[in-house]
Amino acid sequence: MSKEVRVTFEPQGKTILVPRGITILEAARLAGIKIRSECGGQGLCGKCRILVRPVDATTKITDVERRWLTDSELKQGYRLACQAKVLENLVVIVPLETRLVKAKIIEYGYEYPLPFKPLVKKVVVRIPKAKLSDLRPDLERVMDVLRDNMGIEVDEIDYHALIKLPQVLRDGEWIITVTIWDGNKVIDFEKGDTSKHMYGVAIDIGTSKIVCHLVDLHDGKSLAVGSLENPQLAYGEDVISRIRYCMIKRSGLKELRAVVIDAINFIIGELCKKVGINRNNIYEAVVVGNTAMHHIFLGIVPNYLALSPYVPGVRRSLNVKARDVGLLINSGANVYLPPIIAGFVGADAVADIIATGMIESDDIVMLIDIGTNTEVCLGNREVIWTASCASGPAFEGAHIRFGMKAIPGAIEHVKIIPKSNGYDVKYSVIGDTRPVGICGSAMIDVIAELLKNGIIDRSGRFVQDKEDARIKVGKDGKEFIIAYSDETEIGRDIVITQKDIRQIQLAKAAIYAACKVLMRKAGISEADIRRVYIAGAFGRHIDAENAKIIGLLPNVPSGIVEFVGNTAVAGARLLLKSRIARKYAEELLKIARYVELTVEPEFSQEFLKATYFPDIKEHMHSTPT
Ligand code: FES
Repeated sequence: MSKEVRVTFEPQGKTILVPRGITILEAARLAGIKIRSECGGQGLCGKCRILVRPVDATTKITDVERRWLTDSELKQGYRLACQAKVLENLVVIVPLETRLVKAKIIEYGYEYPLPFKPLVKKVVVRIPKAKLSDLRPDLERVMDVLRDNMGIEVDEIDYHALIKLPQVLRDGEWIITVTIWDGNKVIDFEKGDTSKHMYGVAIDIGTSKIVCHLVDLHDGKSLAVGSLENPQLAYGEDVISRIRYCMIKRSGLKELRAVVIDAINFIIGELCKKVGINRNNIYEAVVVGNTAMHHIFLGIVPNYLALSPYVPGVRRSLNVKARDVGLLINSGANVYLPPIIAGFVGADAVADIIATGMIESDDIVMLIDIGTNTEVCLGNREVIWTASCASGPAFEGAHIRFGMKAIPGAIEHVKIIPKSNGYDVKYSVIGDTRPVGICGSAMIDVIAELLKNGIIDRSGRFVQDKEDARIKVGKDGKEFIIAYSDETEIGRDIVITQKDIRQIQLAKAAIYAACKVLMRKAGISEADIRRVYIAGAFGRHIDAENAKIIGLLPNVPSGIVEFVGNTAVAGARLLLKSRIARKYAEELLKIARYVELTVEPEFSQEFLKATYFPDIKEHMHSTPT
């Protein structure tokens, strides 16, 4: 029997020979076919459903598959790609809802004004030519000019710069450009006058996307901006799945690191091409990301971030050479990584705090970055309380029957209209297409609307005596039909189930409880908060009022809730172009108070309380707007 089998993916029309016995998900990765796998292939999300032909060309149906697929789906040949292993030649049909579609990447965020003062500068100097009457070595004569003419007492010289100096001096006919970082560290020598070309890159490595700004270090303007999905998505959608990958596979960290560095280098290359500059003229990079992304970027084992007591490998800010981390920019360029607050409050949160100006604020500000892990920061220039809670991937679509990211085909807003003969549902869909599923903002809307219409109660359960054509009983109990099968792209009703509501309750309760615990630690109430910033991609679409109705956000006036976009990359830009921002990043370590919620008894109490939805009538009467 051949050791290899032929797998054809449709509708992509891609055929590949793979080792017999690997999963269809692994085969898809090898073929470069992107399949949703929010749980990283653990059988926990049910999103990797595919159709196989012939049905007996794979291993037997597992219990995990029976949990996620109905009997009739199994009969039709539906399987989970992470469970079914290939035994014979087969065709895999990847349905629309399983294809990984690129989400719109947010490349900009609010940026608090800080003085422009980058750490990189260039000086053009004429060096006295070597002659028999002046036998000083090349380096000495350069250092003498820098000291005597420019007042620069050189402290360090990059090795790669040093070894090329004799040639650069002669090629430039004794006129050279010296690139200096942080006042007195030489990072490059170039022949002639290259002072016009001085660039930096600000890089945000998100769990699902990578964003880069190419910045002119003469004025701080972004010359070009580019982004890509984080290629690590193929190894799991959340950080825990990726850490698990590093734990179970010896080469896991190396693989994850390689794909992210390649992606960054690719984006930088594209940006340079776009504006016609040489990547060697990029002299500094600032990299932000959550702690797992930070560790993987540097090649630090991330495993212990997922194991109690969840301590990071390093907390302080770091300056490393571009060549040491594999960034294809000037080899002596500095790569700055801001400090980390805690295992799950990373350098991206530091960037968020700097970008929003919270670090200079006299007023109390709350900053929430909603994701699988939600970071909450609360405070002002004196003290900033921080915490991270495991809000789970529900708002990103995982564990929700028809959940998906905010990509084309996702229902993004929903309104339920009571009529004399039942309920009507109005919804809007992202892109020019019929609906495929629902994204996080729509889940918030649906639940708020179900509460407003008395279809579910405060405990989240469907009200017993409510009957309507849109309320039916499915595999997971009662469910509410948002879009009928004939309106959808997938030919099935798009519903929200009792189980989905439960998932959202858990997610929103974690976020709300984290906010409450921090408020208590800070000794303040909702009334003291002057501004609530919602950072990240998810926040952009949500309806603040509905988020309060379901008890996701604290009950503050909607007018003070502001969606600030990608403040992680905005913070990285500030850290690139302003010394003050870096000073603030260091100071933040002194004023940040991290609260480990998993050992905080108050958190469990608040969490339990918050699983209930707020009283809708009380909310309507008491809500500040
Ligand atoms: S269930 Fe297969 S990837 Fe999650």
